Amino acid sequence: MDKNIISIDSLSLKEISLIMKLAGKLKRAPFMRKAALANKTLALLFQKPSNRTRISFEVAMTHLGGYTLYLSPEEINMGVREPVKDVACVVSRYVDIIVARVFSHNDILTLARYSSVPVINGLSDLEHPCQALSDLFTIKEKFRSLKKVKLAYVGDGNNVLNSLLMIAAKTGLDISVATPKGYEPAREIFDKAAAAAKKSGSVVTISNDPFTAVRGADVVYTDVWASMGQEADKQQRLLDFNGFQINETLMKSAGADAFIMHCLPAHRGEEITDVVDGKNSIIYDQAENRMHVQKAILLKMLGK
Ligand code: CP
Ligand code: NVA
Repeated sequence: MDKNIISIDSLSLKEISLIMKLAGKLKRAPFMRKAALANKTLALLFQKPSNRTRISFEVAMTHLGGYTLYLSPEEINMGVREPVKDVACVVSRYVDIIVARVFSHNDILTLARYSSVPVINGLSDLEHPCQALSDLFTIKEKFRSLKKVKLAYVGDGNNVLNSLLMIAAKTGLDISVATPKGYEPAREIFDKAAAAAKKSGSVVTISNDPFTAVRGADVVYTDVWASMGQEADKQQRLLDFNGFQINETLMKSAGADAFIMHCLPAHRGEEITDVVDGKNSIIYDQAENRMHVQKAILLKMLGK
């Protein structure tokens, strides 16, 4: 396994499959490895707020017998109080593994380059790989096989979509994306996803039409229209994303029993209505699974 998890692209199919299997076992028996990470310390270096990523990693570490240090944006002030390189060189002398949440993807690359311990991307402006691993786990939980499962993503071509697109393309899950014009996923990710899809047989479609994207979908996924750091663009984005909301009308075009997913936090009335609370929503399962999958990630990264 690569020392770090920065991008879905760097994970092999075998590694993804091992993480899925181990997460399944840990979900059924949460304390089966309760001393595996004894004397190990995880540092959560966060430049942005978090509910799920922070808590699920902390609790995962507790269940595995390890310790976590949460370092809020104010404490380390990475890149402002001192260079990212110095943070990497110093923190990695104290702890055994780092999860970092950064604004710029370059910062996570710099951290990984200079850290002597594994670095996990807990969200950058380009990717959210732990979310995608956990989302794959949630989808696998609901369907026996990924063959013929169609995932539709409607909304912003952001970090969450980039990682989701890549994992779908790698694992053979069909994915149909609709974003407004100008909000498509990153070109470099799309090109890699297209190449991965050729190998896996996944059908990847990108369009600007939400109704076409969700037609016949088994799962419909969305995320916020303005990500953390994009608050200044929010008013413009509300206009640009008009028509891209997951609501009852859009869901009528999806498969009759289509599940609804959202990485959260959700903004009801913007990218999604109260279908969040409806019977087809698997959003809270999705959030819970972050913890099970992250336990598997921690164990694999630390060679346990
Ligand atoms: N989905 C997710 O990463 O949530 P947080 O921002 O609360 O960690
Ligand atoms: N795209 C969102 C995801 C939050 C988990 C953001 O970057 O803010």
